[in-house]
This record gives sequence, structure tokens and C-alpha cells, in this order.
Amino acid sequence: MKKNSKEIEWLIDEAFKAQEKAYAPYSKFRVGAALLTKNGKVFTGCNIENASYGLTCCAERVAIFKAVSEGEREFDTLVIVGDTTEPVSPCGACRQVMSEFGDFRVILVSNDRKKKITTVKELLPYSFKKENLIK
Ligand code: THU
Repeated sequence: MKKNSKEIEWLIDEAFKAQEKAYAPYSKFRVGAALLTKNGKVFTGCNIENASYGLTCCAERVAIFKAVSEGEREFDTLVIVGDTTEPVSPCGACRQVMSEFGDFRVILVSNDRKKKITTVKELLPYSFKKENLIK
């Protein structure tokens, strides 16, 4: 599905709205995500931290898990926005979770809406996949 720039800007707005919900009392680093599925649904996420720091869940993983838990597995575009002056860079764990669901477009956005348009494959080449589990 090819998205025009107006639709992309709308998806970025959704990610910024989700960022407002971030629960980040420890890092104070707020992240928002908006995931567009191939059939046109949108799932948003924010980072959710925990006093037991390692239990923190990143915004993009929250959005992906929300989508998958609602039966969606085919994704068109994931937008990630961060409180950063350059487009935010997703962590390795999130790149691995993205790669579980194939290759799709990922748009990384800074706090002043600078964009880097990339793909899951570009973010995580040679990822570990279900095919690798076959002995
Ligand atoms: N974080 C995300 O939500 N997504 C990213 O791509 C990078 C990091 C969160 C996790 C934690 O709550 C905070 O940002 C600082 O690492």
C-alpha cells in the first residue's frame, strides 16, 4: 500500500499523540509509535517503564503487541517518534520484534519532525527468523 505524504503526516500525528501517554518516570525519555496495518488499521504505543527497570517496554513493541493481540500480523508502516533532535533510533530488541513480522516501512521521527524513512530489513539485516529454527 503506497501512502501519500498527507497520510504519513497523519500517522506521525498519531505517534506524537501516543507519546503524550508515555510512562517514563525514570528515564524521562518519551517515545510514541503508530503502526499502520496492511488492512488500514492503526495501533499506537508509548514506552512503559517500571521500577524494576528491565521490565520496561518500548513504544514500538507496545504498538506491535497490541496489533498482534488483535489478530493483525501484516504491517505497512511503523512510525516511531522520540524526544530527540535527530530521528529516534529503535533498540535492538525492538528491531528483532519487528523482523518477526517481515519487512515493512519504518519512519523514524525527531521532535521537530525530521524523518528518516527506512525498512525493517535495513534496520536489522541477517535477523534471526523462524526459518532459522528448522534443524
Ligand atoms: N525506548 C523506546 O520506547 N523505544 C526506542 O526505540 C528506544 C527506547 C524507551 C525505553 C525506555 O523507556 C526509554 O526509551 C529510555 O531507554
